[in-house]
Amino acid sequence: MKESIQTMFDLSGKVALITGGHSWLGFDMAGALAAMGCHIALASRNQEKLEKAAAELSENYGIQVFLFQADLRFPGQVQAMADAVYAWKGHIDILINNAGGGSGASEGNFFKRDPRDISDMITVNLLGPLYCCQSVGRYMARHNSGKIINIGSIAGIVGRDRDMYRRNHKMEQPVDYAASKAGIIGMTRDLAAFMAPYQVQVNCISPGGFDKGDLPQGFVSDYANATMAGRMGTMGLDIKGAALFLASPASDYVTGHNLMVDGGFSVFK
Ligand SMILES: NC(=O)c1ccc[n+]([C@@H]2O[C@H](COP(=O)([O-])OP(=O)(O)OC[C@H]3O[C@@H](n4cnc5c(N)ncnc54)[C@H](O)[C@@H]3O)[C@@H](O)[C@H]2O)c1
Repeated sequence: MKESIQTMFDLSGKVALITGGHSWLGFDMAGALAAMGCHIALASRNQEKLEKAAAELSENYGIQVFLFQADLRFPGQVQAMADAVYAWKGHIDILINNAGGGSGASEGNFFKRDPRDISDMITVNLLGPLYCCQSVGRYMARHNSGKIINIGSIAGIVGRDRDMYRRNHKMEQPVDYAASKAGIIGMTRDLAAFMAPYQVQVNCISPGGFDKGDLPQGFVSDYANATMAGRMGTMGLDIKGAALFLASPASDYVTGHNLMVDGGFSVFK
């Protein structure tokens, strides 16, 4: 069978649900898929931010955007989101579990960390994506087709140099963040096995540090030196190719994989 490369990356008429997709990496991934003709459903807690993102996506790419306001820590809200997005076009072809968080309100230092923040971190970053996979996965299984992309992190793979945070006066990311992201990477593999009979591929993207422009300069240069690429990830750019690949037919023979988008950080030295 001969497919053109254009066909392998074409997403015309498909529907992608991107959680937390109104800003930063989620918004970048939405743009990458929309540029290939995909309709986009965005889910998050903030309606105003959702509407702003939707306007930008439909204006830039001429696709349709569906919005759903939900707090993904609650399985009932996740199910309502999946039902509403499915009812929109009668299919959900791609799910990107992007919603998550870095630190929470209290101290990042493990000994000083409030147990309620530890619990919330696991709920937002691991349980939320599991609920999303379950609710959306059932619809994908019904159609015998789908792509699930989970968002992990380098934190799920390597320990982080606490000195780099301390000397640059930056709050360190907590151990429970690493636990949640390692959970995401592990669940990706087993869910890939579970969903394989339904022709659904399940993969993970683990980004390294991306620069949102709010980091201490010393941290940015220390971090850049710890990557092979010599720089942090660039918002608006570096996540897009990985997301498009794993969302499109080009990756139909790729499942259970964790794709590092980290400029070589996790394999340096
Ligand atoms: N930015 C980075 O450098 C980096 C590095 C590695 C991994 N990641 C991961 O990438 C993903 C996106 O991160 P980001 O930095 O682009 O964005 P972010 O962390 O600023 O925001 C993530 C999104 O998730 C949403 N969200 C959080 N909790 C939610 C909840 N309970 N219900 C619904 N929505 C919720 C937020 O509203 C936001 O839209 C996260 O999973 C993050 O852990 C980011």
